[in-house]
Formats: sequence, structure tokens, C-alpha cells
Amino acid sequence: MTRPAVYSLRRRLLGWLLISTAVIGVLALIDTYREAVKTADIVSDRVLAGSALAIAERVVVAEDGTLEVDIPYVALEMLTSAAQDRVFYRVDGPPGQFITGYQTLPSVSDMKGQSTAYGDASFRGEQIRLAVLSRSASTGINSVPFTVTVAETTIARRQLTQAILLRSALRLALMILGAAVIVWIAVTVSLRPLYRLADAIAERSPNDLHPIEQSVPSEIQGLVETVNSFMVRLQSALDALRHFSGNASHQLRTPLAIIRTQLALSARATTLEEAHIAARKGDEAVAHAERILTQLLLMAKIDAAGSSAPQPLARIDLTALAQGIIADHVPRAAEMGIDLGFEGEGEAFIRAEPLLIGELLRNLIENAISYAGKQAEITARIVSSPDVTRLEVEDNGPGIPPGRRHMVRQRFARGGETQAPGMGLGLPIVEEIAGLFGGTLSLSDGADGRGLKVTVGFPPAEAF
Ligand SMILES: Nc1ncnc2c1ncn2[C@@H]1O[C@H](COP(=O)(O)OP(=O)(O)O)[C@@H](O)[C@H]1O
Ligand SMILES: [Mg+2]
Repeated sequence: MTRPAVYSLRRRLLGWLLISTAVIGVLALIDTYREAVKTADIVSDRVLAGSALAIAERVVVAEDGTLEVDIPYVALEMLTSAAQDRVFYRVDGPPGQFITGYQTLPSVSDMKGQSTAYGDASFRGEQIRLAVLSRSASTGINSVPFTVTVAETTIARRQLTQAILLRSALRLALMILGAAVIVWIAVTVSLRPLYRLADAIAERSPNDLHPIEQSVPSEIQGLVETVNSFMVRLQSALDALRHFSGNASHQLRTPLAIIRTQLALSARATTLEEAHIAARKGDEAVAHAERILTQLLLMAKIDAAGSSAPQPLARIDLTALAQGIIADHVPRAAEMGIDLGFEGEGEAFIRAEPLLIGELLRNLIENAISYAGKQAEITARIVSSPDVTRLEVEDNGPGIPPGRRHMVRQRFARGGETQAPGMGLGLPIVEEIAGLFGGTLSLSDGADGRGLKVTVGFPPAEAF
């Protein structure tokens, strides 16, 4: 089951790109507009000023001392060439004296000491830009100040700035579109390894859990590694399961066959005693099957523990644990005339899982009880030293010849002819449990070269 995709990487990247370029683009457009207006003003202001100058040059002082002007229409022509713009002018003498032109045309009253000034105004309902030139005409004796105002509607300017703005906007839109296409392509190309990875995994058979070896971009390397380590764990979990089911079916076949035989015998029994015997044998087989299942489950548990992530371990006192388990076995040992004892003083801490260590010890004691024979002596012992905490189980039975000691440590290996219930998993379980907690198993002769001594050494808890 996959959850619906929360978002698309492609759309998210495109979204970010479009939003950011749109914001930057709008800012750039505003700037372009300002710049365009300024440039248009500078250019046409110069023409306005030129035109005013041409008029000013034609201002003369008449004989009666008044000012006269003969408007050179070329001066105005150079302005009107632009567009449908209209041109206005006025010439004023000393303050309050209108000489010629459009009397209602606004002008700049305060020249701030400059000879040329520019301004924006509106005239006859239209936006105009005007240039005012302040001069004086000389009679030779005195000079008469005058101003020339030339104004022009701003249609051409507005058209120019609009054209500049439009072109910039168009350029920007094309750029954004181009970038979007590039991002689309880039994302498609970049995502291709992901699709290939998905295909490669989809094509696998369900049993194929080998690590993904596809080369992938560094961004998803971590993901692939996680999936790979997950597959390794899955593989060992599956192995453990297969192991378990294989072993279970193999090992349970014999006791199940015995149970069926005994059931059949009891059905055919003619006397109550025969039926009792069959029932007892059947019951023994059930107990045997039970033991097998317990051990196989334990084995599977160890396999699973070995493959899963390590868990923090409890600090346990081996002495207390061993004393408890020995006490449980004393009655059974006593029945067989076996002397089961414990040696060891003080606490001996190791880091381990108490249930598994209990199983380890139980296996060793049960082996000793089963194989050392009646009247044997069995001693469990805890020996602590600074760098190792040793658990020993020693008996004075027949032992295992050195040449066979290696063999009996393997799964399903049993030594010789034996009537003892078991399936050859005891010592392997002991070794694997020990291994889980950093311990080691060794088999040696018992005291005086008789019997068997099984030693499991653990790193003491302090050494962790
Ligand atoms: N204390 C012992 N003394 C003599 N032989 C032993 C002892 N413990 C184990 N063995 C031998 O090692 C074999 C393997 O033991 P184990 O792995 O516990 O499997 P199982 O007990 O099911 O046979 C036993 O079949 C037995 O022959
Ligand atoms: Mg055993």
C-alpha cells in the first residue's frame, strides 16, 4: 500500500522558480519603467529647451522699449515631428507682461536662479511637459528680462515608455518560459535514475533480496543504503523463518510418527495394560516434540536477535541466575543419584538478556545430567576475574573425546548412540547465545582428566 503522493517535486520546483522569477521580474520592470521615463524626459527635454532657445533668440526690444518676437515656426516644427503631440508656447516680458502665445499656458514661476527649468503640468485637459527659458534682451542701455515657455503634450513620451516597458515585459516572460522549460527538462532528466531504480526493484522476484547496485545520485544514496540494510535484515529474518520451518518439519516427523503408531497400537490394544503402555509412549513422544519445538523456537529467536538492531542489554548477576536454575534441577538430578552442586561467591555481573542466558545454562546442566550417567557429580561454577567472567559446568561422566568436540558443536550433531532425548541443538544454542553477548564456548576435560568441562567466558559488565 502506498500513500498518495503529497506533492510533485517537479511542480514544486517549477512553482518556486515561477514565483521567484515573477517577483524579481516585477521589480526589474518597475525599475525599467522609471529608467524609461527618465530617459524619455532627458531626450525630449533637450528638444524642448532647444526650441525655447530658438524662440528666445528672436526676441528683440522694439524702438518703444517693448519686446517683440517673431516666432520661428521651425522651432516648433522640430517638436511636432514626434507624434500626435501638440505644441504650445508663450513669451512673457518683465513680470506681468504677456507678449505672445497661449496666455493660459502654465509656466514655471520660480526659476530658482536657473536659466532653464522644466516641469509637468496639465493644459486643456492634457498632460504637458514644459521648458521655461529665462533670458534678457538688451537695448544697449538696459536689458529687459523675458521668459519663453514651450510646452508639449506627452503622448509620444508615454508611447515610448510604454513600448520600452512592453518589450521588457515580453523579454521577461520569454525568459521565465525558457527557464520553466529548462527546469522541466532538468527535473525529468534528474529523476530518471529514480524511475530506473523503481523499475529495477519492481522487476525483482519476491525472493531476490540482494542489495540494490544501481548507481544513483548522491541525494538518494542514503535512501538506497537504508533500503539495502533493510533487505539484509529481511533476508536474515526470512532465512531464520525458512531454517525454522525446515528444521521443524524435519525434526517433528519422528515424534509425530511415533505418536501415530502409539495411537494406532492403543486403538488395537486388547488389554488395558497394552493401552497404558501405548499411551505412555505416545505421551513421551509428545513431550519430545514439545522439547524440539522449544529448542527450535529458541534457535529462531537467536537468529532473529542476531540480525536485528542491537538492543541495550540488562546488567545481570550470573551467580544469582545460576543458583536459581541449579535449584530447579536438583530434584531431577537427585532422582538419578546425581550430585548437582554450585560453586561461586559474590556477584558476577555481565551484560546480557537473562532469558537467553537461562536457556544457555539449562542446556548445559541438562546435557550433564543426560550424558554423565547415574551417580555422577556435576558442578556448576562462576569464576570471576577482572577481564572475564567464566561460567563452568563440569561433570565426571564419560566426556567427549577431543576429536569429537568440534563436531558436537554443530547443529543437529549428536554424539554416538544415545537414548537421551535431544536433537543436537543444545551446544549450538549455547554457543550462539554466548556469541550474542560477546562470550565464547570451550570444551575441555573435567577434573583429573575425566568427564567434560564446558566453559563459557563472558566479558564482565564493567568492561563494556
Ligand atoms: N556433558 C556431556 N558429557 C558427554 N557428552 C556430552 C555432554 N554434553 C554433550 N555431549 C555430547 O554432545 C552431543 C551434542 O549435545 P547437544 O548439542 O546438547 O545435543 P543433544 O543433547 O540434543 O544431543 C550430545 O549428543 C552428546 O553426545
Ligand atoms: Mg543437549
